[in-house]
Amino acid sequence: MIALLFFAALLWDEAGAWGFKDGVLHNSIWLERAAGVYHRESRSGKYQLTYAEAKVVCEYEGGHLATYQQLEAARKIGFHVCAAGWMAKGRVGYPIVKAGANCGFGRTGIVDYGIRLNRSERWDAYCYNPHECGGVFTDSKHVFKSPGYPNEYENEQICYWHIRVKYGQRIHLQFLEFDVEDDTACMADYLEIYDSYDDINGFVGRFCGDELPDDIISTGNLFVLFM
Ligand SMILES: *[C@@H]1O[C@H](CO)[C@@H](O)[C@H](O)[C@H]1NC(C)=O
Repeated sequence: MIALLFFAALLWDEAGAWGFKDGVLHNSIWLERAAGVYHRESRSGKYQLTYAEAKVVCEYEGGHLATYQQLEAARKIGFHVCAAGWMAKGRVGYPIVKAGANCGFGRTGIVDYGIRLNRSERWDAYCYNPHECGGVFTDSKHVFKSPGYPNEYENEQICYWHIRVKYGQRIHLQFLEFDVEDDTACMADYLEIYDSYDDINGFVGRFCGDELPDDIISTGNLFVLFM
């Protein structure tokens, strides 16, 4: 269970200080609509899931492997991940919003590896789950809680919270209470925080256990919390 408070603080109001450059932050505005689609990797790391295992990962969380169309719909509104994953019907690919030399061969779109004949190949997974929990907050102060708080969080449930404030503002996230099942490497239950939709550069941290995390201040006008 977690309870969090955030408030937006106008810490830096210099126009253009963080850009909507290169499409990333710009796209982020719309991403909450893509939140039904998400990326998953094996608990043992990147590119470890066979097709059957990828299906199980999504189904365990109440969803299923995303179709190509669902992934593309998510991509069109900002979903960008630099890792190939299984989709429905044994297809493999990944969504690229921002062209980059290190990912997607400098192109945007779904990088499509096609339908794999060998279902024992190991990739990540793209799941679709319309029943997720979470929310989108744009107000300047808000307290929110995990579902059922203060009771146990149901660990099959996937939640995304998107906190977005005005361009030029930053977000101050403060934890009021925190208790997420502890395990050795925060593998099973955890809260992850990103401050952009870039899955690598935007990663802020992963938290579990019952120690109250320190306050966190965003670098831009966005936080995404995933649990
Ligand atoms: C299928 O992929 C697995 C994992 O990459 C590999 O070990 C296996 O040899 C492949 N099978 C065939 C028939 O190519």
